[in-house]
Amino acid sequence: MERFQFHNPTKLIFGKDQLPALKEEVPRYGRKVLLVYGGGSIKRSGLYDRVMALLQEIGAEVTELSGVEPNPRLSTVHRGVELCKSKGIELVLAVGGGSVLDCSKAIAVGAKYDGDMWDFAERKAAPQAALPLGTVLTMAATGSEMNGSSVISNEATQEKLGWGSKLAYPAFSILEPENTVTLPKDQTVYGMVDIMSHVFEHYFHKETNTPVQDGFCETILRTVIETAPKLIADLENTEHRATILYCGTMALNGVLNMGLSGDWATHNIEHAVSAVYDIPHGGGLAILFPNWMKHVMHHDLARFKRLAINVFDVDPAGKSDQAIAEEGIDRLRAFWNSIGAPSRLADYSIDDSKLELMADKAVRFGPFGNFARLEKQDVLEIYKRSL
Ligand code: NZQ
Ligand code: ZN
Repeated sequence: MERFQFHNPTKLIFGKDQLPALKEEVPRYGRKVLLVYGGGSIKRSGLYDRVMALLQEIGAEVTELSGVEPNPRLSTVHRGVELCKSKGIELVLAVGGGSVLDCSKAIAVGAKYDGDMWDFAERKAAPQAALPLGTVLTMAATGSEMNGSSVISNEATQEKLGWGSKLAYPAFSILEPENTVTLPKDQTVYGMVDIMSHVFEHYFHKETNTPVQDGFCETILRTVIETAPKLIADLENTEHRATILYCGTMALNGVLNMGLSGDWATHNIEHAVSAVYDIPHGGGLAILFPNWMKHVMHHDLARFKRLAINVFDVDPAGKSDQAIAEEGIDRLRAFWNSIGAPSRLADYSIDDSKLELMADKAVRFGPFGNFARLEKQDVLEIYKRSL
């Protein structure tokens, strides 16, 4: 295991009827609230009315920023920063999925910065201060509710970059599984693919003594695989929603990667696709991850063999390590297909015309991937396998 320090400052408030915790949490930070949300799902579900009623009860002064896009845009972040500065906002409250949360994180740091928040994404500067952030999550996927990461798309330059800061962790996050039941099937699938992908990013590491971490990863993967078909068949089942919601938070809140450095190449490769084609993150991952696996499996066949046996129930009898590892990857692909995830770039009408452009974006900060280092040529090969 590598040396590590673990500190996660987010207060997680999980379960049915937890929304009224807003009345206790919000006043800790102030009265002037920027309420950030997306394209309207929280209005249709009634969550907006519940949040507003609670904020009114405590006399909060609410300014709204609506219309945050899936793959949130820098121009929307700028609008939020302006509002924070002009209205003297004291707390940013994000109500929505990962995109709303990520946008709100960028607003929270941008509000305390004289330059453009994009400097943080470009690694030209690091946040030195931030407004406090609270979240009410409506979608299990990114883990943004309990981490310090955010991904923003700059539509002017067609770039999608992740950035992170210990100042960007939410101060509190309220997770009611009931708020996720209105999520349609396709987004539910994308969310589960994203959760599994976060676990894979941790699972593929180079440390040798990580039995607990590897076991945690396998448990989450098996749980998603077992729960996904039941949830797809019964989207309003709050027990299955709760299971997946908890998996989503645990997959990317820093617990799984204590003492190890995960790979994260596939996320980088996917972000380059989303930057150019604006596709859903989970859909892109479903296409790319099995192809990344086949491209790099020779780096540590034993790890892929372990995944195949422990998670995908591959029977190893009489098979070579290579065959076992490949069967595991094929079962992952078959599982994602079975729940309706896409499997080829062509599913999003993406052809080979911009592979070079995407690969250039992926290597913008140089070769990447901690488990297997990828150069531009590797990225191109993975894209070609994915057509
Ligand atoms: O905009 P609204 O109307 O709210 O609709 C959203 C959106 O259209 C809808 N939705 C969310 N909750 C709903 C709902 N519809 C009905 N009922 C509900 N309860 O779902 C659509 C997708 O929402 P979005 O927030 O975009 O999805 P997700 O949570 O998957 O977030 C994706 C973004 O997060 C980034 C991705 O790259 C992408 O930009 N990521 C962030 C990470 C992080 N902060 O740690 C890590 C991830 O790997 C990821 O890269
Ligand atoms: Zn992800």
